[in-house]
Amino acid sequence: MSPTPASTKERPAWQALATHCKTLDSVGLRDLFAEDPSRGERLCVEAAGLFLDYSKNLVTDATLGLLHDLAVHAEVAERRDAMFRGERINTTEGRAVLHVALRAGPGDTLVVDGEDVGPKIHAVLGRMAKFAERVRSGKWTGHSGRPIRNIVNIGIGGSDLGPAMATEALLAHSDRALCMRFVSNVDGTDFAEATRDLDPAETLFIVCSKTFTTLETLTNARTARHWCVQALGDDSAVARHFVAVSTHADEVAAFGIDTRNLFEFWDWVGGRYSLASAVGLSLMIAIGPENFRAMLAGMRSMDNHFRSAPLHANMPVLLALLGIWYSGFHGCQSHAVLPYDQYLRRLPAYLQQLEMESNGKRVDRDGRPVDVPTAPVVWGEPGTNGQHAFFQLLHQGTQLVPCDFIGFARSQNPLAQGVHHDWLMANLFAQTEALAFGKTAEQAAAEGVPADQLPHRTFPGNRPSNTILAEALTPHSLGALIALYEHKVFVQGVVWNINSFDQWGVELGKALAKQIEPELTSASEPTLCHDSSTNALIHRYRRWRNQG
Ligand code: F6P
Repeated sequence: MSPTPASTKERPAWQALATHCKTLDSVGLRDLFAEDPSRGERLCVEAAGLFLDYSKNLVTDATLGLLHDLAVHAEVAERRDAMFRGERINTTEGRAVLHVALRAGPGDTLVVDGEDVGPKIHAVLGRMAKFAERVRSGKWTGHSGRPIRNIVNIGIGGSDLGPAMATEALLAHSDRALCMRFVSNVDGTDFAEATRDLDPAETLFIVCSKTFTTLETLTNARTARHWCVQALGDDSAVARHFVAVSTHADEVAAFGIDTRNLFEFWDWVGGRYSLASAVGLSLMIAIGPENFRAMLAGMRSMDNHFRSAPLHANMPVLLALLGIWYSGFHGCQSHAVLPYDQYLRRLPAYLQQLEMESNGKRVDRDGRPVDVPTAPVVWGEPGTNGQHAFFQLLHQGTQLVPCDFIGFARSQNPLAQGVHHDWLMANLFAQTEALAFGKTAEQAAAEGVPADQLPHRTFPGNRPSNTILAEALTPHSLGALIALYEHKVFVQGVVWNINSFDQWGVELGKALAKQIEPELTSASEPTLCHDSSTNALIHRYRRWRNQG
């Protein structure tokens, strides 16, 4: 691989796109669809059971050609292959990035530091499956011999968002007799509300933390241990009510969890890419090992597509390049993810970490400033709720917000002979059409809108969106969807030449909180050395805290 130039903006492929973008000022989606009646059938791609329609984007064939050139010059294919080869592409942490190994097929070989990691992955998956079956069947009993009915995953960030999102997404595929809860926030309310109606004798905690040093997780885990031991009256209850998921057996042992109850993973699995590892244990208990394997198969199927499809027909590459087109050349600073499926309620939060923690960077892999915009703010809500809230801005606001609409042909809950679902999907299609084509003043006037109201009741259109469809929300399609976005993030990181796999930006706040906590709680008035705002806030907090 050739050394990457310091400036992304100065690359010929970027410059060509910048020049090209200016020529599109007067081109709209109405014209593009009128000029090419087959555009809607042409600009789509199908892979791993997902169908992506990207025709409602502000692109011509020339745009797509130039975006393709950008990917080629950034060596997307070479860097992708380096990831799959297990090279240490996470350079600031000196680690390989091999979450794809977690879902490789039994015959596939994926090597880290000369070792085929397949056997140990499958060994952990096997242990997870055995344990999950024991819990699901009631054979794994609590300290007092009662079967486990409640599973509480304690973790945060990648040790929470993936399993929490997927457990909700696959509720229709899960054992409803089990009550699944997720505790992440250090705010005691999270733990209190998650456990208030649970019986400790029937509750299993999964303490999930890659490092096993994360403040929030360890604070919640200590509270959980106290809650459990106090109710069951015996320290030895921990052995039946706590298991751990981590890369750090020493820290797990130091916490007091028997390492026989540890499900391990490895430092070449990034936290936000870890759902397919033992981090997915809570999910596996909820949906069962077979469904978990189906999710892995969905991921694998997208991995294979990403690895083998030509860049111009490669779904994650296309999504990535379109995102770069909007952030880099249209000034878009946010990106909406709009799942038209209530079960995907947590997908936007999951993707926030995936995209923003991975690519919210301002220096390149060599520490030089990046001279183009990197990750946008990712946000969203399920449809149709968003339509009655923020869609006003999407249709008529002053910002351009590219959107991903995600929907399914068949509902898990086809109420009233499918009436609900047909309305849901009618709304999805309607929104993408309205955003793309809008409504002109002539059209509005022809509908009888009074002249003085025309500015308010016309829609500019030209608001871009992708539509991702699958037949149904299943473990397989969810797996494919997750891998799709993982690889999208990877490609964007390559083009922006940033390290998508570290997260140094979260460290400063953590360090300051460690300094401030004793200042809040010390018996004597502390001498504060912060800025005047922080000092005054701490003083006020202490005053009010101690009055209560
Ligand atoms: O602080 C950020 C972060 O390190 C995330 O990257 C990670 O997913 C989360 O904290 C939790 O980390 P751990 O799994 O080590 O507890």
